[in-house]
Amino acid sequence: MPIGVGLEERFYPSRKLLMLPGPTNVPERILHSMIKPMINHRGPEFHELYRRIMEKAGKVFQSDGEIVVLTASGTGGVEAAALNVIKQGDEVVVPVFGEFGNRIVNSVKGAGGKPIRVDAQMGNAPEPSEIEEAFKRAKAAKALFLTYNDTSPGVTYRWLDEASKIAKEHGAFVVVDAISILGGDHLPQDRWNIDLVIAGSQKCLALPPGISLLSVSNELKEYMMENPPTTTIYFDLTRYFKFNEKLETPFTPAIPLFYALDEALTIILEEGLERRIERHMVTAKALYRGLEEAGVKPFVEERVRSNTVIAATYPSGISDAEFRRILNEEYGVVVAGGFGDLKGRIFRVGNMGETNARYVLHTLAAMILALLRLGHDVNYDRVLDAAYEELKPLLSHSG
Ligand SMILES: Cc1ncc(COP(=O)(O)O)c(C=O)c1O
Repeated sequence: MPIGVGLEERFYPSRKLLMLPGPTNVPERILHSMIKPMINHRGPEFHELYRRIMEKAGKVFQSDGEIVVLTASGTGGVEAAALNVIKQGDEVVVPVFGEFGNRIVNSVKGAGGKPIRVDAQMGNAPEPSEIEEAFKRAKAAKALFLTYNDTSPGVTYRWLDEASKIAKEHGAFVVVDAISILGGDHLPQDRWNIDLVIAGSQKCLALPPGISLLSVSNELKEYMMENPPTTTIYFDLTRYFKFNEKLETPFTPAIPLFYALDEALTIILEEGLERRIERHMVTAKALYRGLEEAGVKPFVEERVRSNTVIAATYPSGISDAEFRRILNEEYGVVVAGGFGDLKGRIFRVGNMGETNARYVLHTLAAMILALLRLGHDVNYDRVLDAAYEELKPLLSHSG
């Protein structure tokens, strides 16, 4: 057992650098915000907390729509979207370019809909023209359900604005899984005409796992109120809309996570959403450049590369399990492996929330050492110099 891993650490795991695509590092301010007494979720303290959350969340979604906070992980948010938008037999266009697109297909089926898949090869994404073709085939399609950032290959759908326009021209609702991207890249919901955006807590918002946020356009809310779902109680969004009026949730909320959300939203607005997004772009560039200098190729085509999930292909001969074990046990850096067919072929670095120059340099240094140990030739100086060059905009911010 490595030095420093004692009995207590089995009960209180030591703090690691969580460069995972969720859960991610949670700032101290957010951790501390949760250590407060419980309050009555039907009382004035909760009303005030909820009012602050609603006000700030609208700014982060860049929307005048209605916010719902679900005490459920991201999957609950996606399922709620499917159950409230889709009726039996509805056709739904679903671009699929990773595992989370596949999961949407299953959620659509689960809600009684018929998914019209628009597939792309792993590491790429379908062109907007292919989405348009699907809408021409499925003339009465009810909605477009799109994963903005598919976390499994690390692909961001860079033509979301265009795809949304196409769906709207065909009279469809636009629903976006932004679980692994909201707060880390551009997503002006109202300007891009998106009816429903789903965000997760444990990603770019830098919260612990356990809640998801939905922002619903007025048009879609009206539709839902007139056609409430019949097969769910917990995920019936119309109940949440009604309780929003009295600044409450219909069921008992995860109060500590609501405290945390309040603080996380304050932190985002203090930094400024645009600056936060720019920070994610800079750190993403540094990670991609550093890895390339180390001879580790990005998995995804440049035009659809994610800034929040950096996926890279292992050089030949590098064992996924050994690489990640060394990073974790010896350098305290935790990164993710690949999903499904990509298991063993790629690894994924979360670049989310608190990400900064220090985290990037620490991660790259640890990776260089792990690669060297596994027999891969890497020039330490070249990798760190390349990353440092990209990180300069952040380093000059902090003086
Ligand atoms: C794009 C995307 N959608 C949905 C989910 C599911 O979220 P959760 O694991 O919080 O239920 C994830 C989780 O990684 C995700 O990245």
